[in-house]
Amino acid sequence: MDIPVLHRLSLNESPYPPLPSVREAMQRAVAQAHRYPQFRPDELTERIAAWCRVPSDRVAVGSGSVGVALQLFRAVVRPGDTVVYAWRTFDAYPLLAAMAGARPVPVPLSPDGHQDLGALLAALDHRTRVVVLCNPHNPTGSLVAADALSAFLRQVPRHVTVLLDEAYIEFARDTDLPDTPSLLDAHPNLLVLRTFSKAYGLAALRIGYGLGSVDLVGRIRRQQLPFGINAVATAAVKASLQAESELRLRVDTVVAERERLRGELVSLGWRVPHGHANSVWLAPPDPVDEGAAALAGAGVQVRHYPGEGLRLTVGDRNANDTVLTTLAGLPTHRAASRA
Ligand SMILES: Cc1ncc(COP(=O)(O)O)c(C=O)c1O
Repeated sequence: MDIPVLHRLSLNESPYPPLPSVREAMQRAVAQAHRYPQFRPDELTERIAAWCRVPSDRVAVGSGSVGVALQLFRAVVRPGDTVVYAWRTFDAYPLLAAMAGARPVPVPLSPDGHQDLGALLAALDHRTRVVVLCNPHNPTGSLVAADALSAFLRQVPRHVTVLLDEAYIEFARDTDLPDTPSLLDAHPNLLVLRTFSKAYGLAALRIGYGLGSVDLVGRIRRQQLPFGINAVATAAVKASLQAESELRLRVDTVVAERERLRGELVSLGWRVPHGHANSVWLAPPDPVDEGAAALAGAGVQVRHYPGEGLRLTVGDRNANDTVLTTLAGLPTHRAASRA
């Protein structure tokens, strides 16, 4: 018999539904749904640019950040070119690379779950068009700190675009966080990718954006589908920007829950690395496969990479408590964590 899913902690979504003010803005837009949205999403682009304090010709909006990434790949890749990224990572990169005709080049993570910047640099050659850095990293939550990122960017040849995926940056609290928009002037081959799907809780509405040089953004925008950004989503993003302080409090709560989850799991005997996204990463030799099975049995859907790891999205307090109770009941966890 299938066990019903009580808590979906598998897709790094926000546990919160849209704020009332955001819902109202969406309803007003729904009432106008017989009208097309803008041919190009100029108004939304300008709003996002003003909010990011960059000129609007440095912002490209797309259908989720995956949409912007696909536009980038289509803009710069020719058949046979390569796209380099650390693996394991977000599943979409190899798919998007293949959609653009590129050959994916996965580079193993270091044993502690960090993107191996030296190995990524060593994998770049004359066929490489894009190197992806995911910061904070999905699924391990590891972070590339400011100095390491600057050094990396200095060593990437100019013919390679750096796709710096910051889908989870709002959840990072490190003192050594890179200030990526300030790096754009020095690195015209850098695209900083952001999204309204995670911290802003609008995953269903598919709005992401990229910040980059005028030239790179112009090329990405040429891949934008006409009328491609829908009006309800645009209204929701604009209302969310107006409610930013309220949304930031929600992010703070997720961060506090992440730290609580981590602390409790550590005291149960699990080895849990410091994570900087809205998730917690468990890896062998801790019993991740048994953990995944127990969580599935308790109706908690998580992202399980058999033999490799378990990514738990930070949910609401009730969901996180269910995770803790379930993993605490595992007979094997203490023995395995002492191995
Ligand atoms: C690293 C990373 N980037 C991007 C995305 C997708 O974001 P969007 O909804 O903006 O396409 C995800 C979603 O899980 C992700 O993990």
